[in-house]
Amino acid sequence: MSAARTTIGLIGVGRIGTMHAKNLQALRAEGVDLVLADAHRPRAEQLAAELGVRAAPGAEELFGTVPDGVVIAVGTSHHAPLIRRAAESGIPAFCEKPVAQSTEASLPVLQTLQETGAVVQIGHQRRLDAGYLEARRAFRSGELGWLHTIRAITCDMFPPPVEFLAGSGGLFRDCSVHDFDVLQWLTGQQIVEVYARGSNNGDPAIGKVGDVDSATTLATFEDGTLASVSATRYNGAGHDVRLELHGSEDTLQVGLDGSYAGRSAELEVGFPLGTHHQTFHERFASAYREEMRAFVQLVRGELENPCTAFEAVDASRVADAAQLSLETGVPQPVRR
Ligand SMILES: NC(=O)c1ccc[n+]([C@@H]2O[C@H](COP(=O)([O-])OP(=O)(O)OC[C@H]3O[C@@H](n4cnc5c(N)ncnc54)[C@H](O)[C@@H]3O)[C@@H](O)[C@H]2O)c1
Repeated sequence: MSAARTTIGLIGVGRIGTMHAKNLQALRAEGVDLVLADAHRPRAEQLAAELGVRAAPGAEELFGTVPDGVVIAVGTSHHAPLIRRAAESGIPAFCEKPVAQSTEASLPVLQTLQETGAVVQIGHQRRLDAGYLEARRAFRSGELGWLHTIRAITCDMFPPPVEFLAGSGGLFRDCSVHDFDVLQWLTGQQIVEVYARGSNNGDPAIGKVGDVDSATTLATFEDGTLASVSATRYNGAGHDVRLELHGSEDTLQVGLDGSYAGRSAELEVGFPLGTHHQTFHERFASAYREEMRAFVQLVRGELENPCTAFEAVDASRVADAAQLSLETGVPQPVRR
């Protein structure tokens, strides 16, 4: 390895890890070398052969190669030990959201990060999406004025397997948490109270594992601004993630592109013209590419951390409050 190259070890080559691996491999010409590992060894070896990169027998052996950075893309229950393993080795890490299975379980991880000063970027990819970045710029520059109405929606086309949902922490922690995070990042304000309701009109198996298939959260910010945050697993038209910012001076919408999954009821409107997005992979393809590029820059000391573990846990606290509001049927403060 030449001194100028950066080696990234990637652990977990499932749904999202495979995509991150491909995006990292695309940075090869920019000096990135990749090593893969997975608890299911043949899975890592197969992807490594496909991409022409190295595979380590497992996560421990991968840490043994002392990469410059690690990408942790394993299931949620394995995030915390691997983040701590990286922190204690002084290796910068990127970890998929969330930091741990619950906010409580995240606290010892934050403690370790505080003690070691370790660098950990969490995978809230919307912070690297061109549309959300433009919305943040427009709001912060004052172009939109003050916001009287915010509407955020995250609609999956199909539910993931029920086994995944059973361990996901529920719709707020799995899905709406992306909106809670991006809204706090965009406005620079914390959400202080939430009132959430949910419904189950799809597969009854989702209710049986204690989750809802659709939900709306009314979120109140520090200055009293309101946002509605909706999510569903059943959006037949396609994968639809949008944000409407309605201000006293102007209105801006993120995600209203040619592949928007919907149509106008006004007959003369020919929009959208393209094929509807079907998955989060398609909707955020460029944001995921930018996310891996940002992590490499973070490892090289060229960029500030786009999403710290502390910020990600703060969004998880909002999701916890939404889950509690759903369960109790009353508004809940966000406990910090
Ligand atoms: N940011 C996003 O938009 C987004 C989207 C999807 C998933 N995610 C998150 O990504 C994570 C992974 O989700 P997924 O759908 O790719 O899961 P997955 O089940 O498809 O893949 C996980 C992979 O990790 C491997 N693995 C598990 N434990 C391991 C360990 N200790 N060491 C090495 N390998 C291990 C498994 O064998 C599997 O190949 C989840 O935490 C999920 O919340 C984020």
